[in-house]
Amino acid sequence: KRIALGIDVGGTNTKYGLVNHRGEILEKGSIKTDDYPEVEDFMNALYEKISPLITKYCGEKQFEGIGVGAPNANYYRGTIEQAPNLQWKGVIPFAEMMSEKFSVPCKMTNDANAAALGEMMFGAARGMKDFIMITLGTGVGSGIIANGQLIYGHDGFAGELGHTIVKPGGRKHWSTGSEGSLEAYASATGITITAKKMRAEFPHSMLNSYKEEEIDSKVVFECAQKNDEVAVEVFRYTGQKLGEAFANFVMFSSPEAILLFGGVIKAGDFIMKPTKLHMERNLLPIFRNKVKLVFSELDEADAAILGASALVWEK
Ligand code: BGC
Ligand code: NA
Repeated sequence: KRIALGIDVGGTNTKYGLVNHRGEILEKGSIKTDDYPEVEDFMNALYEKISPLITKYCGEKQFEGIGVGAPNANYYRGTIEQAPNLQWKGVIPFAEMMSEKFSVPCKMTNDANAAALGEMMFGAARGMKDFIMITLGTGVGSGIIANGQLIYGHDGFAGELGHTIVKPGGRKHWSTGSEGSLEAYASATGITITAKKMRAEFPHSMLNSYKEEEIDSKVVFECAQKNDEVAVEVFRYTGQKLGEAFANFVMFSSPEAILLFGGVIKAGDFIMKPTKLHMERNLLPIFRNKVKLVFSELDEADAAILGASALVWEK
């Protein structure tokens, strides 16, 4: 009769759910992260939404604690540190603040790590001991599972594969300043940049019938579905960058599968076909045709909520 709160802090939305010991989400909800430039206000808003739920579900049950997945989260310190796609700057002692607010223990991990955990316990990666989770949203996140465990590394930040370089000297990242990172190309933000550049070069593209601020990965997908060559090329190029990056990741840790989730995978074959092609093409032959590219089985939000809540039960 124990209940945990799982929270997935995203660049745009933050999702939460009360989860029981069997991994069932009793009730979930969300708030808009970017409505709160100050982390204190954000936490107050979360508390107002969630504390009635705790009262509702924890009558004779026990509220055990909180697990949080967040960008640039540090597992060892329970902090969020200089997240490129959040408004909160500096080092935020997030777990400590949550723990004080809700009067229970709070643990944190990276958002994509949480998704990897959720997927391993309850989703498409059940039974897998070695896989890499890649989340394609506002940013690009990853969780690396090796021998059935998340890799945390010396300082607790291991698995920031979205910031690995796929084009040396390439596109400058809007926040970190690095040049040519996977995130700068394959995140929703990156796809939007690519689309804006390409439509400027090709006046005949359907993408030019939209206002500058309307262009996003959804619009590109709609145009691709209507056979706009330029929109299709935007995804092909994005897929190429993803595939080249995946080849590197595979040779690094020899996963059984790469799991994918996030808004961007809605573009389906437009992005997955070139991804697969360029991954295979760049792999050392011993790795070829062995690694599955799998879509997450859980609802996007659920994977991270479940994974984060699992931190509560962890010894
Ligand atoms: C952050 C990661 C995060 C990813 C997805 C990246 O910009 O650095 O920590 O996992 O976005 O949210
Ligand atoms: Na990670």
